[in-house]
Amino acid sequence: MSTISSRSSSEKQSESAGGSAGGYDVEQTVRERYSAGAQALEPMLCCPATGQYDATYLSVLPTEILERDYGCGDPSQYVGEGEVVVDLGSGAGKICYILSQKVGQSGQVIGVDMNDEMLGLARGYQAEVSGKIGYDNVRFCKGRIQDLALDLDAAQAYLDEHPICGVEDITTYDAHCQAMRKSEPMIGSDSVDVVVSNCVLNLVKPEEKVQLFAEIFRVLKRGGRAVISDIVCDERPTDAIMNDPEMWSGCIAGAFVEDEFLKMFEDAGFYGVEILSRQAEPWHVIDGVEFRSMTIRAYKGKQGPCMERRQAVVYHGPWKQVMDDDGHTLYRGKRMAVCDKTYQIYTDAKGPYAGQLIGIEPSEMVALDEATEFDCRRNAVRQASEMKGATVNGAGGESRGATRSMNVLAAGDSEVCCGTGEGSSGCC
Ligand SMILES: C[S@@+](CC[C@H](N)C(=O)[O-])C[C@H]1O[C@@H](n2cnc3c(N)ncnc32)[C@H](O)[C@@H]1O
Repeated sequence: MSTISSRSSSEKQSESAGGSAGGYDVEQTVRERYSAGAQALEPMLCCPATGQYDATYLSVLPTEILERDYGCGDPSQYVGEGEVVVDLGSGAGKICYILSQKVGQSGQVIGVDMNDEMLGLARGYQAEVSGKIGYDNVRFCKGRIQDLALDLDAAQAYLDEHPICGVEDITTYDAHCQAMRKSEPMIGSDSVDVVVSNCVLNLVKPEEKVQLFAEIFRVLKRGGRAVISDIVCDERPTDAIMNDPEMWSGCIAGAFVEDEFLKMFEDAGFYGVEILSRQAEPWHVIDGVEFRSMTIRAYKGKQGPCMERRQAVVYHGPWKQVMDDDGHTLYRGKRMAVCDKTYQIYTDAKGPYAGQLIGIEPSEMVALDEATEFDCRRNAVRQASEMKGATVNGAGGESRGATRSMNVLAAGDSEVCCGTGEGSSGCC
């Protein structure tokens, strides 16, 4: 850990999430810093994650790739065989080449970086590394991670043939890029099992960070997940930190305030957002602000209609009650009524809640195409008799397993149901 002061005053900045970087071009600063970092080792760049990687996967990697490691965590450990993975800001390619071995021949790895020197380094060793591994399942793309639909190599090829000579050409170029995003996106929507990143998201301009999270969400398949290692801070960086381009490109000024980092995933429509690791000792303390590495996992797939199939879940404890990202409260030991979608999410052995809940199915399952809509805004207990197929009388007449037969625990329906976002229909 190092304790340092920024160049000038240490006034706290208190602007919108992510702050604002004053007086310099963030992207150009980052590009220049990592061009230099690709050519010669820059030990000051980022927070070394040495010791976290599984040595089994490192033996096939050339020294130059091992050395140009500017990461701060190891998201690759949360990826499995056969998965399609995108690595945002792949740099020299270390994480991609580890992932290549982890996902195996049936999986696929796509590294995205905007820096030519980094891409040159990563691509330059591709034949050698894949020769050692025995297959080639990696692709390195040139792109900005906040715009994953636009392939910058393809955009460059267009510019080579249609150079911009006047302002009218800018409009034509923009229109062509927009068409390419739609017709041949670099990373298509709903196409990826896991998006990983190692110390890159902080480098994106503050005003483009919301778009960045929206892009991560877009490219993931339903049920897919993001596993992101990045730098966080315990309070807002000072103006002096924010105004220093070196601090930005060094993964400090753009760091997320800890709780806001998790909130960014929530706001983008993810669920099951979880801290997988958090460095105990700060990497740097600057003007009293602590900077450290954190790894977050978050899932896509809570959007969609809520159907009544008479399932219930029981929360084990030890907390007396817990609440999910849609405002469903689960009370320890109570048989809570849930819709089919929530039931599938809660009981998924690979999902975020695995092992925390007991799933209970009714003695007679309602077929999905016969299921009625479920009102998931209520926190209701499912009656045992109802789950055994009993016919119960509700206010509006006879009903078999209808929501109104349940014992509603919390007064007042929740404002939020299963969130909003792409692909949502019906209740959620
Ligand atoms: C701190 S390094 C991390 C590199 C790599 N993940 C690692 O673990 O070594 C940041 C990388 O992200 C790239 N990068 C920064 N901002 C980017 C953006 N907006 N779009 C694409 N790549 C970006 C840089 O070019 C650089 O290669």
